[in-house]
Amino acid sequence: MNKAYIKALANYIPEKMMTNEDFAATLETSNEWILTRTGIEQRHIAAEDETTLDMGMKVLENLKKQGINLDDVDGIIVPTTTKDYPTPSTSALIQNALGLKNCFSLDLSAACSGYVYSINTATALIESGVCTNVLVIAIEKITKDVNWNDRSTAILFGDAATVALLSKSNDDSGVIAMDMQSRASDILIVPSSGTAIPISVQNIEDGKHFIHMEGSETFKIAVTEFCNSIEKTLKEANMSMDDISCFIPHQANIRIIQYVAKKTGFPYDKIEIILNKYGNTSSASIGLALTEAYHSGKIKKGDNILFTAFGAGLTWGSTLIRW
Ligand SMILES: CC(C)(COP(=O)(O)OP(=O)(O)OC[C@H]1O[C@@H](n2cnc3c(N)ncnc32)[C@H](O)[C@@H]1OP(=O)(O)O)[C@@H](O)C(=O)NCCC(=O)NCCS
Repeated sequence: MNKAYIKALANYIPEKMMTNEDFAATLETSNEWILTRTGIEQRHIAAEDETTLDMGMKVLENLKKQGINLDDVDGIIVPTTTKDYPTPSTSALIQNALGLKNCFSLDLSAACSGYVYSINTATALIESGVCTNVLVIAIEKITKDVNWNDRSTAILFGDAATVALLSKSNDDSGVIAMDMQSRASDILIVPSSGTAIPISVQNIEDGKHFIHMEGSETFKIAVTEFCNSIEKTLKEANMSMDDISCFIPHQANIRIIQYVAKKTGFPYDKIEIILNKYGNTSSASIGLALTEAYHSGKIKKGDNILFTAFGAGLTWGSTLIRW
């Protein structure tokens, strides 16, 4: 069986940045509340006229600057909660912009678990021989779905894009275990704009097009399923947390990460944390952290890297990679 490994990585962070103090100026909140309850210090916001496609092309430019050739890409997967259009898919727009002919494109809807689901899907496509080089481009302009008057959600999210190029491995490096799980729930939902609650003046006036989250309920399920997914993935690889060099969890709340570290006994200083700088960037968060860790030299060949995510759906899952 072919193994799939991550060949190249890049990030794109929009220029505009908002601090907690900026929120405190307009909402009944404070830097202290946001920092202690979430771990977030700041987040970046895409420009008003910047589309998901624009962000995707910018992150690909950052990949190409590393000398990466994309001519042989035969699959594009875009996890995103903020597509440009209901149809066509954003991945198809990217494929078109790259001028790739022998290639398929797919948008993947798994909210904050989108990166893990997409890396796992790309791995399965490469392992089965269907594809050879797959781009996973997680792109989120999630702040467009946020009600800026709702202090319980507005302060949480940020915009970003990240790309991973997966290719067929020639040695024993690559993905060694995967987990993907889900359960239907409406505790984290954007109610309107689909067929169930279509866009209407009334629904917009009622704020149904914004993110609604039962925060503490989501928190409770997240910590349980994080630990469950980690356990399942390590078991599949016949490993323990002692074998993991770097753990990259989805970055929604620092208290979730602290809880998971304590529960699994994983050293906190081996966890990549970027939440303070970028907030919750949904499907982009694990890729952002991985890319920063890789480019800063923290990840070495032979290291075992574990990603674990949790998001709306509800969805959760993990990827374990030998670098
Ligand atoms: C959203 C989240 C930060 C809220 O933190 P929390 O400690 O659970 O806070 P609660 O929602 O219980 O609210 C506690 C109080 O703080 C208030 N509050 C909420 N946001 C606030 C803010 N920005 N500033 C000040 N007070 C705030 C609430 O109104 C509530 O006040 P009350 O007790 O008077 O009703 C946290 O629940 C969370 O991170 N949830 C999980 C997110 C997640 O994993 N998402 C999955 C992927 S996206």
